[in-house]
Amino acid sequence: MINRDGFSKSLWQNEAQAELAQRSMPGYTFDVVVIGAGITGVTTALLLQQSGKQCLLLEAHNAGFGTSSGTSAHLNTLLDTPYPDVISKFGKQKAMLAAQGAAEAIAIIKGHVDKYAIDCDFAYKTGYLFSQNERESQQLTEISKALEVVGISAEWSDGIPVPLPFDNAIKVERQAQFHPTKYLSALLRQYIADGGNYLDQTAVDHVDSDGAVQRVSAGKAIYQATDIVYATHIPPGLNLLHLRCAPYRSYVLALKLARDKYPDGLAYDLKEPYHYFRTAIHDGRPLLLVGGNDHKTGHEAKAEHVFSELEAYARKYYEVQAVAYRWSSQYYIPADGLPYIGHLPGGGNHQFVATGYSGNGMIFGTLAGRILCDLIVSGESPYTTLLSPSRIKPVAGFSRFIRENADVLKHFVSDRISQQSLTELSELAKGEGRVVKYQEKQVALYKDEYGKVYALHPVCPHAGCIVQWNSAEQSWDCPCHGARYAATGELLNGPASRGLRHIGLDD
Ligand code: FES
Repeated sequence: MINRDGFSKSLWQNEAQAELAQRSMPGYTFDVVVIGAGITGVTTALLLQQSGKQCLLLEAHNAGFGTSSGTSAHLNTLLDTPYPDVISKFGKQKAMLAAQGAAEAIAIIKGHVDKYAIDCDFAYKTGYLFSQNERESQQLTEISKALEVVGISAEWSDGIPVPLPFDNAIKVERQAQFHPTKYLSALLRQYIADGGNYLDQTAVDHVDSDGAVQRVSAGKAIYQATDIVYATHIPPGLNLLHLRCAPYRSYVLALKLARDKYPDGLAYDLKEPYHYFRTAIHDGRPLLLVGGNDHKTGHEAKAEHVFSELEAYARKYYEVQAVAYRWSSQYYIPADGLPYIGHLPGGGNHQFVATGYSGNGMIFGTLAGRILCDLIVSGESPYTTLLSPSRIKPVAGFSRFIRENADVLKHFVSDRISQQSLTELSELAKGEGRVVKYQEKQVALYKDEYGKVYALHPVCPHAGCIVQWNSAEQSWDCPCHGARYAATGELLNGPASRGLRHIGLDD
């Protein structure tokens, strides 16, 4: 079983976790340390290792712990950011390059599947985009024209593979789908077979750099490398990227249908947020994946309702026999619509990052592997001018952001709370969490399934925002930059680098 950063189980977690991690390292000096073993980290490490760089891949939990096991694993060149927007913000040539990059990512995945005979249900599928009102039809016409401009061949279609009413639809061939954790495990196995080093359950505490040498402290050891890659979905620490990437949650249902009307193809409506559909094979049987209802992380108090709404939406069009799986997952929307892949802002010449993938994580995570490998090996990538984080202009308020963070940390107080007050405050159902007021301060309370109550400081240690309870994933989520914590306070996802502080209990 693959562990994930959430309480709900995704369709992809039922894979046996390959026992791949080493427990000791052959030395402490590497060419590259890659931090994070999701699709970005594993692809980057594999390509670097095969290019002659000796790599160490470090993972705080297990491979695929983050969004790589929470994706719906669509592989499309129809990016989340509509091409008319990409053209208007980046120009025609760069929009063409973005389309080329998406196609290259699918080709890289297919190349790996073929070369290593990976059994991961990879299949080319036709992708459909459909409108349901006049405004969306106009939008679809503009998208269709923009697709032609960027070199993606799209045709108008009389039908769509899902039983929803629609006005107009376009279809694009050679989109694809796969099983993400089967693919990821196979890639990791190959990386190790190629001589790569891998430690899981090894969180990075901090990184020091004198420019030429990066010193990575992790698991009581210090590893040195010429280059490091933050493949952690969003980099840790305080960085311009945190002001340029907004965290979102997306919800997915895997449904068993009463009659086999599973779609043969990928389908997307044009709502905001949009819904997406595909079929996946699980234990030899098809399941319908329906996703959508996205919202900003930490901005939906009743995430349980989001699942109910999504299920009601699916039941409007399908005879659902059972909800086999349901889960939510996180992604980051970049300010200008395309991801940031390249040198870490403020990190010098030897620290690299990839983030801001929107809902195209499998595509951009794979492309990031290619780009980061090229940058580290040769110093160049055809995608540098398009995707480099250096395109971020100075961000107003960034120095205030740093200052305020320092203030918040100064004001961390070691409050205590009496057992009696805790009992009065904790009118919670088992499995419920809530931020409550106690003596003019806020306290995060969680009652576990045995009735034990945990009291935590709800102040996110990254930059001081107040976390919110996520009932769907039983986690504390930070609305500012997306850090997430287990119900009992342990860190699940950065950019924070430690968990929520516990509040002491007096008798
Ligand atoms: Fe930045 Fe919480 S993630 S303040």
